[in-house]
Amino acid sequence: MISRELRIQYSEYTGTEALPEPWARLVEAARKAADQAYSPYSGFRVGAAVLLADGTVLTGNNQENAAYPSGLCAERTVLFYANANFPGVPVEAMAITAANARGQVNEPVKPCGACRQVLLETEARYSHPIRMILDGKKRIQVFNGIDDLLPFSFKPASLKG
Ligand code: THU
Repeated sequence: MISRELRIQYSEYTGTEALPEPWARLVEAARKAADQAYSPYSGFRVGAAVLLADGTVLTGNNQENAAYPSGLCAERTVLFYANANFPGVPVEAMAITAANARGQVNEPVKPCGACRQVLLETEARYSHPIRMILDGKKRIQVFNGIDDLLPFSFKPASLKG
């Protein structure tokens, strides 16, 4: 038996003023996007912003539906838009933020499992890690790529064994 250990390195910042550009700008864009979320059922507003390799910034937010499973998270809303309209342009970074009825959440918002899987596919598509900037009122966490949020994943290379 061999016991192995997995280490994940990430950075924490006290707020946007401490964040390097253009991440601070990306967080601001995500916050604006969260304000425009369509989330009448959960009351939870999520905003996501991506930075493309050509400098383009795109935003998305969660889109809910009376038939609940038909809704979509903010992260996939903006990722699918980016992949549909900017094919061939790698996604370099994504910022995520969220607010409930009491305002912005205290802890950095984490992408759901399905969004992590789609983020991973986008990384693989462009062979480019996506820097993840997770925004919260108390702190902002920055992860180097999706492998650090979704270790031991099933990815395109897994199909080849
Ligand atoms: N949501 C997101 O948009 N992103 C996440 O990472 C977590 C959850 C949305 C889905 C739903 O509209 C609401 O937040 C409550 O789960």
